[in-house]
Amino acid sequence: MNLFVDEAEQALAQRLWAQALAVQALAHAPYSRFHVGAALVDDQGHTHAGCNVENAAYPEGVCAEAGAISAMVVAGGRRIQGILVVGTGAQWVTPCGGCRQKIREFAAPHTPVWVANADRIQARLTLEALLPHSFGPDHLSPPKDTA
Ligand code: THU
Repeated sequence: MNLFVDEAEQALAQRLWAQALAVQALAHAPYSRFHVGAALVDDQGHTHAGCNVENAAYPEGVCAEAGAISAMVVAGGRRIQGILVVGTGAQWVTPCGGCRQKIREFAAPHTPVWVANADRIQARLTLEALLPHSFGPDHLSPPKDTA
């Protein structure tokens, strides 16, 4: 499996990996003890990161990807050009179903989604592979001439 399409993308993914690892260490995960970090690059080339933030009221916990997306939005970014998630262990930690939809709001079908652990970047997936036949903003914004 190809992890990167070219050297520029490899450099970007490695930058995201380092940032995701740095924030993974800051995760507030006293209940699951499962620390996750996420980092993304936006349409301006800026990067944003987030970690999971759990809550004693369990359903109120927030995933790492959601934190990274919030950071992008408050910084003025509106498109995700690539996102990387760092988990723990050999098994791929892919974004949960809810986070796939959250990524969908700001990304294109071909947008790369890397999964990694502390040892290596494990896989390069795409949003389309993770969330096929998805519902998105385009469903709510029909072209004016057909509306
Ligand atoms: N988690 C994430 O933050 N991102 C993922 O992609 C998978 C799961 C978090 C949610 C919860 O705090 C913990 O990992 C265990 O599910």
